[in-house]
Amino acid sequence: MIQTLEWTDSGVRFVDQTKLPTEETYVTCQTYHDVADVIRNMVVRGAPAIGVAAAMGIALGVKNSEASTIRDLSKDFDQICNVIGKTRPTAVNLFWAIRRMRGKFEAMQAQPLPQIKEALIKEAQHMHAEDIAANEAMGRHGATLMPSSGGVLTHCNAGALATCGYGTALGVIRAAIAQGKNIHVYADETRPFLQGSRLTAWELMKDGIPTTVISDNMAGAVMRQGKIGAIVVGADRIAANGDVANKIGTYTVAVLAKEHGIPFYVAAPFSTIDLSTPEGSQIPIEEPNAREVTHIAGKQMVPDGVGVENPAFDVTPSKYVTAIITELGIARQPYQEGLRKLGEKQPALSIK
Ligand code: MRU
Repeated sequence: MIQTLEWTDSGVRFVDQTKLPTEETYVTCQTYHDVADVIRNMVVRGAPAIGVAAAMGIALGVKNSEASTIRDLSKDFDQICNVIGKTRPTAVNLFWAIRRMRGKFEAMQAQPLPQIKEALIKEAQHMHAEDIAANEAMGRHGATLMPSSGGVLTHCNAGALATCGYGTALGVIRAAIAQGKNIHVYADETRPFLQGSRLTAWELMKDGIPTTVISDNMAGAVMRQGKIGAIVVGADRIAANGDVANKIGTYTVAVLAKEHGIPFYVAAPFSTIDLSTPEGSQIPIEEPNAREVTHIAGKQMVPDGVGVENPAFDVTPSKYVTAIITELGIARQPYQEGLRKLGEKQPALSIK
């Protein structure tokens, strides 16, 4: 299995996703600032992976702290969370992870500092293991929704590389294939950062899963040709009403799916569901550098002076979402009710 990120004795190690698919190289972060940089620079990306990277970054920062009193360590802790919390705004898993690490830190206040440090490292490692278990559970639930054969379209990368392993949307596909379903994946290339062609295609090829990359603007045509039996994507944040923020272009795919009568599924761990955000319009959308759109492989493709927009994500209204697959089960319309009910099952997940 690809090790997207892992805690090691020499630091937090990441596969460098900016170099894929042509180079499989790894970077090891020795400080929390390094971890903040790899999140910001897309060395690691994908909501669940960002969350666990943040937790490991916090654990690393606390481990390296020279504070000798709990008061000073608390100050360092706040500073670390502040830096890590400013890396990427949309994936709610980042803030979920910070909250969870803070909860652990606060619960340990009365303990000696070395024990606090150890507990935070353990918590981050536990979150890593939990993420893989959640993906496998999502796979078990979601596989039942996949067609027994034919094309399944996905957008961006919601695979092993976007998580600690196995993947959310790609985990559902992996589980369906493991059950004997004969699935062929259609991967949208996902302009402008090309997570679909660079990352989804790379990890599916590694697993021997039949994959065809299409340009984003082909999605409607392949649906019309009857090649797609289902669509499954991941999410960066799901509002309480079931609106889904995911990679830019997801909304277009969902609307096309409705037109063609194709089920549109979203697979995400419960840590991606933000019950405190009532609806999708309130989700902050990251706007990366316009150069992602204006340049391809360093070559300018847009004349100077032209306006460029580059939102990293869009919001798909819940009316287009057939079902939301989580590790706790499947939610359907009305999502307000369905997601709240699933939430009541937490913490249902046990780690082997
Ligand atoms: O900008 P990215 O590459 O971090 O965006 C990733 C996505 O939009 C994924 O679909 C989402 O995070 C789900 S990953 C399981």
